[in-house]
Amino acid sequence: MRPVLGTACPAGEGRTRDASRLMTTLDLRKAARRDPIRPLDVGDVSASDLAAARDNWRDRMASEHASARIFGDLVGGMMRAGLPSHELRRVAAMAQQELDHGVLCARVLAALGGEPVAELPRLDETPVHADASTPLEAVLRNVISIGCCSETVAVALVATERELAGPPAVRTVLEQILRDEIKHSRFGWRILARYAPSLTTTERAGIDEYLSDVVEHQLDFHGQFLAMPYAGEEGIGIGAPHGGSSWQVFLTTMNQVVIPGLEQCGLRAEDAWTSARATFAACRDRDSVAER
Ligand SMILES: [Fe+2]
Ligand SMILES: [Fe+2]
Repeated sequence: MRPVLGTACPAGEGRTRDASRLMTTLDLRKAARRDPIRPLDVGDVSASDLAAARDNWRDRMASEHASARIFGDLVGGMMRAGLPSHELRRVAAMAQQELDHGVLCARVLAALGGEPVAELPRLDETPVHADASTPLEAVLRNVISIGCCSETVAVALVATERELAGPPAVRTVLEQILRDEIKHSRFGWRILARYAPSLTTTERAGIDEYLSDVVEHQLDFHGQFLAMPYAGEEGIGIGAPHGGSSWQVFLTTMNQVVIPGLEQCGLRAEDAWTSARATFAACRDRDSVAER
């Protein structure tokens, strides 16, 4: 699988499995203190769900913060492809928005009694796609991966969490994040819709081929939901994960929004998705047999 630009927003990005890599500590204690959220009354939430909520906000704080570099790197690819300057400015602002999301998550974590300090996830190099036929093909591969896939799934996930939020302060934070994620997703679809109709046969073929890597990455990344705990209703209200529900939201968004949207832009997404899901299911079956 060729490198795919990392998922931008959902909690838990890139939880590293390689402890030998150098880690960077993200300390947002000072930023969280600047405009704090009052300590949250968690009611009857169980100790395990409270711990899961804190872990989730801490992971999300780190992944939101790390997402800023993805938009920063995207600016370079867009410049190389000659994309309009107003779009460059929007994407540069998106980097700032992801940093702000990290601070919002830090505030919720502090209000839940946690310390907003985390190890940053693995910061993989941004793919430059040297094998692409043109700079436009190269940047569209990343735009599809980030805007059309990751950010679109993030919109569905954050919107679901907002609906299930308990304390008003948690709902407000999720609303603030959601507003930006919608912009990030729309950016992807806007750029793709604008340039897809005039792609050369070679550019289109290169993007079609890369879609397999993109959807495999989406399945691998969001497959982490399946290993997450399933919190109770009150725990979910303060941000504890319910892995099974999140996985269903991911699948529904891919099936009903992302794949049809890519097909509408003339890309062969359905074939890539069908094949990637079959491979993912076979690997899961193999893993579950091995665990028995
Ligand atoms: Fe974000
Ligand atoms: Fe985002």
